Amino acid sequence: MMELQRWLGPWLASLALVGCSEASPAGKSDSAGSDGATATSASGADGIAASDTAASGSGGSAVTTAGGSGTAAGATGGATASGSDGSTGATGQAASTAGMASTGATTNGDSTSTTSGGGGPSYATLREAAAAANRLIGAAVDAAALADAGAQYSETLAREFDYVTPENATKWGPLAPTSSSYDWQAADAIVDFAEGQQQAVKGHTFVWHEQTPSWVSTSMSASELNAALKSHIETTLARYRGRMRAWDVVNEAVDVDTASGYRESVFHQVLGPDYIADAFRWARAADPDVLLFYNEIGAERLGAKSDFMYAMIKELLDAGVPIDGIGLQSHVSTHRYPAEADLRANIRRFAELGLRVNISEVDARTKNVPGSQEARWLMERIAFQQVVGSCVVEPGCEAITFWGVTDNYSWINEEGEEDPLLFDRSYMRKPAYDGALDGFLGLLPVRGANLVSNSDFASGATGWAATAGELTVAAAEGGTGNAACVSGRSDAGDGLLQGDLLEALQSGGPLAFSAMLRVDAPSSVEAALLIVEGGEEREFNIASRAIAQDQWLELSGYLGLGFEQAPSAIGLKLYGPASGVELCATAVQLQPLTVD
Ligand code: G3I
Repeated sequence: MMELQRWLGPWLASLALVGCSEASPAGKSDSAGSDGATATSASGADGIAASDTAASGSGGSAVTTAGGSGTAAGATGGATASGSDGSTGATGQAASTAGMASTGATTNGDSTSTTSGGGGPSYATLREAAAAANRLIGAAVDAAALADAGAQYSETLAREFDYVTPENATKWGPLAPTSSSYDWQAADAIVDFAEGQQQAVKGHTFVWHEQTPSWVSTSMSASELNAALKSHIETTLARYRGRMRAWDVVNEAVDVDTASGYRESVFHQVLGPDYIADAFRWARAADPDVLLFYNEIGAERLGAKSDFMYAMIKELLDAGVPIDGIGLQSHVSTHRYPAEADLRANIRRFAELGLRVNISEVDARTKNVPGSQEARWLMERIAFQQVVGSCVVEPGCEAITFWGVTDNYSWINEEGEEDPLLFDRSYMRKPAYDGALDGFLGLLPVRGANLVSNSDFASGATGWAATAGELTVAAAEGGTGNAACVSGRSDAGDGLLQGDLLEALQSGGPLAFSAMLRVDAPSSVEAALLIVEGGEEREFNIASRAIAQDQWLELSGYLGLGFEQAPSAIGLKLYGPASGVELCATAVQLQPLTVD
């Protein structure tokens, strides 16, 4: 009970007890992890580098045409809603509206004065900013809201976005309520609206385990289900031939908690994994010009799910399956979301397969972080700046779609009222909007000074302790500088602790975490903040991933820290591998994130 308090007391004493030997820095090789964590020296000569991406990214790349199937080979970066142009993306600029960012205030939906207080370009709308960055800016459209929510909804949609995705209207269930009839009304209304506003359209989605028609079930034979699915894809593509830029052909087929790694949907149960390749081939045959996407949830960061998706997509491409792009949905929560380096590395590896990468369904849960609306909205602003900025600075990413227009109409509200989008319930721009604008300028959140002391163990074990087992500090094996290793661990929860972070972290806020870790057996590694608040201890897991044996790999994540009550103790713990596995760490960083 009360691990941190138990530790905080005798913590200083433990330093004297637990054996720690100092060693001089040894030679180093870059720890380029297989999963894309690149190491460049961030912590000076003697540390194993954590990620160190430039704060402001370089812009998009040469443009490819909208529509038309630029499969694999040619499909890179940038896109426009209406055909090709030669513009290149924005370059890093001074950050925007510093004043605004910190107040969390909203501005009127159509005020023209926007960001880039640093004298950079200013844009009246996201649509303008995205075009300048050679990216598409999209929104999921709620058919009922478009029909009934009045002018503000449609005006905001038309003014700010050049790429729309029907939120539900083009899913199989809503389109085909019976096996012999279609209801095109809602879908037509959205496509007609988009054409009227020179917006491109991405259909969503032919094959998904949810919102399938009630007449589709596992009682169907493989040939019956194949025939029904093939007919649906052909019928729908024929209806919208030449009117859609792209389609999400298959959505959310991966579930790494199953034995196969595939989601146990009606499609996988009846057809096995081949339904994925078949759906893409049928779509290509039905419409050779429309772009075909695979879309996935929770695969934004490097890890088991995105690794499985990567291997699956690569295998399909190697088999000649026509896939033009992938969508990383990015339904984030501001309390814990992918770090910039992580998301960018993931975007890059898919782009290197010749695919267009879309950030396809962005929204943010903000209420997982205790605190004022102003504080929550600032964290949302930083999260959107990070996600949009990462797409803008990675040439392989061509579009960012928000999963809705205004906080009024969001699926997340079904779980309790939330503020997950760019506009508030009065269609006022939220700080989140400025975050997206900065992102389109290629301005990524800035990581401040490291709040972790002795982060590279240059001062031995000063400031650190092992929660169990033995802590030794020595030259980092296969690296440079020092590393701390905990051996003799008897539980996955045992690890390395820096227990006195109260002063550094008690004001909370958006933070960037990263650490280079090494284990002597394949393991899952975790990082958590141990927080004592109102006498209660809570463990706030901030990052976790599986890492291979005997290589330095980065564990990272961005987080939003808030408190219900004033904390009385805060510590950072690294742990996770099974009992007996040695856990080593260096270049441990916790840095405040700021707009500029
Ligand atoms: O249309 C019916 C309406 O006739 C009925 O009166 C009403 C009451 O139950 O339900 C309406 O259907 C709802 C539909 O949204 C349209 O509003 C469904 O119940 C509701 O489940 C459905 O939710 C959608 C959800 O997908 C379905 O799982 C959300 O709006 C939509 O935002 C969400 O989107 C998904 C993406 O497609 C894929 N990625 C995840 C994302 C969030 O779950």
